[in-house]
Amino acid sequence: MSLTKKIGDARLTYDGCDYNIPVLEGTEGERALDIQSLRKNTGLVTFDPGMVNTGVGESNITFVDGNKGILRYRGYDIEDLAEHCSFLEVAYLLVHGFLPTPSEYNAFSTQMNLHSMLHENMRNFFALYPDHAHPMAILSAMVVSLSTFYPELETEMTEAIDITVARLLSKLRTIAAFSYKKYMGHPIVYPRSDLRYCENFLNMMFRTPVNDYVPDPVVTRALNQLLILHADHEQNCSTSVVRAVGSSRANLYASISAGVCALWGPLHGGANQKVLEVLEDAIKTGTSPKALVERAKDKSSNFRLFGFGHRVYKTYDPRARVASKICKQVISHASGKDDPLLDYAQELEATAMADSYFQDRHLYPNVDFYTGLAYRAMGIPVNMFTVMFAIGRLPGWIAQWLEQRDDEIQRIVRPRQVYVGPESRTVAETISQKPYKE
Ligand code: CMC
Repeated sequence: MSLTKKIGDARLTYDGCDYNIPVLEGTEGERALDIQSLRKNTGLVTFDPGMVNTGVGESNITFVDGNKGILRYRGYDIEDLAEHCSFLEVAYLLVHGFLPTPSEYNAFSTQMNLHSMLHENMRNFFALYPDHAHPMAILSAMVVSLSTFYPELETEMTEAIDITVARLLSKLRTIAAFSYKKYMGHPIVYPRSDLRYCENFLNMMFRTPVNDYVPDPVVTRALNQLLILHADHEQNCSTSVVRAVGSSRANLYASISAGVCALWGPLHGGANQKVLEVLEDAIKTGTSPKALVERAKDKSSNFRLFGFGHRVYKTYDPRARVASKICKQVISHASGKDDPLLDYAQELEATAMADSYFQDRHLYPNVDFYTGLAYRAMGIPVNMFTVMFAIGRLPGWIAQWLEQRDDEIQRIVRPRQVYVGPESRTVAETISQKPYKE
């Protein structure tokens, strides 16, 4: 049942006819033209590359106000959640719609422990990837591979879905840590039931046969907070992909695996890796922040300032504000002194913010600008940054996939286009014009 309110009609006049287009309003006052019958009534489709103006449906998961810099999951501000909750509580909130009671939390946490191991045959998969394999490629392949080990969960039963959700949330973390070990050439470390979600991940990452790693509470809290910042962001590129794949009734593993691939791109989650690479390169080559900003403004350079700009935020990304605080805390905790990369990043931000190109286009730091610096201070290598984003985004992807599955108004995603290719022609005509004979 639709929850948006109809608040009036807009009038479209086309080809001598008038059409009423219903105007809908959501809970936070966002308004939308309901064009579901547009093509049937007028023969027209909308033209909206990048779906910049398209609302794909209703959602009660996440609210973003890009002008005011507000981000809420299920009504709670991101700052509030990052301050007061663990990542697992937020994952529960996103998937179930409400924060867990202590007993619900314990049951959820027990599920995480029950499903944390990978089938031993899957462990062998890691061995066969080349050493330089990007962990995002491994992550995507491993997630879809889970569907070969748990095929019965392609059913639509609620219980089966609950187990799939727990499996995914728990095993993605294990896969991510194993892919790091593969990259390092170290033996894998199995998950442990006595550790909480983030501690368990850090232990699988950093324990070695010669180092009895003990998770640091400051790092663990920072990791919880960073993953919360990533946990959902309404209809972003990867979530749209998860929903699109899910709309064909593909299983959850297949849908999430596709989302991982979408997240990998440098304009999306891959930007956190790019930010660090650009900062490191600038310091190595002695490029000033001013020179980087000038390069980003030069349209012929094809260079963008990664970690800046956002489709929705036309002000400071609220996640970037929290991330910058976490980043400074982790860096000072880890080294007790300044980090030249952080100093450079802050100068770059100030230089960009003072430039009219960035001001006129409302380009502010986004979530990816500071998160990479924080991950780096935790000892996580650059090519794992987008994997960290994926671990964080997983509950959001799952919640959106479930929401779409249960939404009666959703249909298979199948956009239209405006065709601009050749007009009708025949092969015979084309062959007669060939300058050669067979
Ligand atoms: N550096 C330089 N110029 C930029 C940047 C940037 N980072 N971002 C946007 N612009 C310019 C762009 O060239 C265009 O200029 P003009 O109007 O003169 O043609 C204008 O700003 C509008 O940009 P757009 O590409 O039309 O905006 P969009 O909404 O399609 O793209 C974006 C949004 C995030 C892809 C883009 O801002 C970008 O490429 N940023 C860098 C990559 C990045 O940091 N991505 C992470 C996004 S946040 C986390 C996530 O979603 O994963």
